[in-house]
Amino acid sequence: MDNKVNNQEGRGSWGSSFGFIMAAAGSAVGLGNLWKFPYLAGKNGGAVFVVAYLLIVVLVGFTMMLGEMIIGRKTQLDPYGAYKKLNKNWGFLGSIGILTAFLILSYYSVVGGWVIKYIVATVTGKIGADKAAYFTGFIGGSVEPLIYHGIFMVLTVAIVIKGISDGIEKASKFMMPALLVMLIVVAIRSVTLNGASAGLSYYLKPDFSKFRPSVLVDALGQVFFSLSLGMGALITYGSYLKGDENLEKNALIIPSLDTAVALLAGFAVLPAVFAFGFEPSQGPGLMFITLPAVFEVMPFGTIFGIIFFVLVFFAALTSAISLLEVAVAYCIDSLKWTRIKAVSIASTLMFIIGIFASLSMGPMADVHIPLFNRGVFDTLDFFTSNILMPIGGFLMAIFIGYIWGVDEAIAEVKKSPGVKFKLEKFWTILIKYVVPFAIFIVLLSSLGLLDKILGK
Ligand code: PHE
Repeated sequence: MDNKVNNQEGRGSWGSSFGFIMAAAGSAVGLGNLWKFPYLAGKNGGAVFVVAYLLIVVLVGFTMMLGEMIIGRKTQLDPYGAYKKLNKNWGFLGSIGILTAFLILSYYSVVGGWVIKYIVATVTGKIGADKAAYFTGFIGGSVEPLIYHGIFMVLTVAIVIKGISDGIEKASKFMMPALLVMLIVVAIRSVTLNGASAGLSYYLKPDFSKFRPSVLVDALGQVFFSLSLGMGALITYGSYLKGDENLEKNALIIPSLDTAVALLAGFAVLPAVFAFGFEPSQGPGLMFITLPAVFEVMPFGTIFGIIFFVLVFFAALTSAISLLEVAVAYCIDSLKWTRIKAVSIASTLMFIIGIFASLSMGPMADVHIPLFNRGVFDTLDFFTSNILMPIGGFLMAIFIGYIWGVDEAIAEVKKSPGVKFKLEKFWTILIKYVVPFAIFIVLLSSLGLLDKILGK
């Protein structure tokens, strides 16, 4: 089969529809699901967060994902070029997305490095009895985490340099299914631990007295982050689609897969947190501290641990390549750079920003970014997930709803031969009214303005 089908502009394209779904799911499923979702649920009262998250996935996630795929396939361009082609004043929205991709990959690669370190540490049996001390000791170091951050970035580069169907598509098709199987095995072990039931009810039985506006802020940010929305990743991936896919179906399958993986990750982590007496709200270390404890009590735990972290690594890698690809597609399409030049320069810049993110876990822990009042790592995380991506999503909804026009978008969905748009009305209402309004409210709240307006 010709795996390198090129369209007129000489850009790459996907070899098959399954390949696209796996790559888009590969972009979506990543550290966001495995690392971030469990700790955000732990931090935000468990099941209340899960309920908010599910609601937002259905209303906002599906709507945005379809919108991005439509823009990508219609224009066959990188996010900046895409918005600009549809309306000459809107290129800026694509630029925001490209900036977002830069900032995310900078710290994402740091966490990707942690995962590689945990593969090594599980192989060599170095983690020891005090899991928390091991984790904080490692991430707080000044040299070792940077080396792993560098390794992760180099591996990302190695795939992206090969282009669309050879690199990205091939890698995703094999890794995603393997991850799902392993995750189920680990979740089963975690749920059957002695003392898991407290964790299960924390995770599944909503206690609405734990509800705060910050639950919604985190849940919305997490939906954007986990589904790779609001910054053009799906515009970019959609731009490598030819004309015949059913976009609506894809926009339903990918969020479902992604949510399934996030929920499973919650089952793998949270019951174990309670069974071993860890603190659910401790934040980013949750997965790294809890899972090694689970592997310790599993038969063949070391082997499971190794396979598991390898798969987490693959999941992170397939997301990282989509982040890098957003920036690279822009440099190729809009700046007319070669792929090699684009990849080298973009990844080097990201690596450098990532250095500060990593050091902020230790040597630079006291450096707080003004305005955000957080360290570098947390600022990058908060600024991208809770501000830039929601703004990107909000403006995209406005763009589709009122500038470019819903009718044009709907026509793009229906242009594939024999494809019907079943949720056309539902989607129209969501993208024109519900989504912009919902994001706006949550944005106010994340900027700390909601309380002021409500006079609290
Ligand atoms: N969705 C990825 C994850 O959950 C992260 C990501 C965000 C990837 C934005 C691409 C774009 O890990």
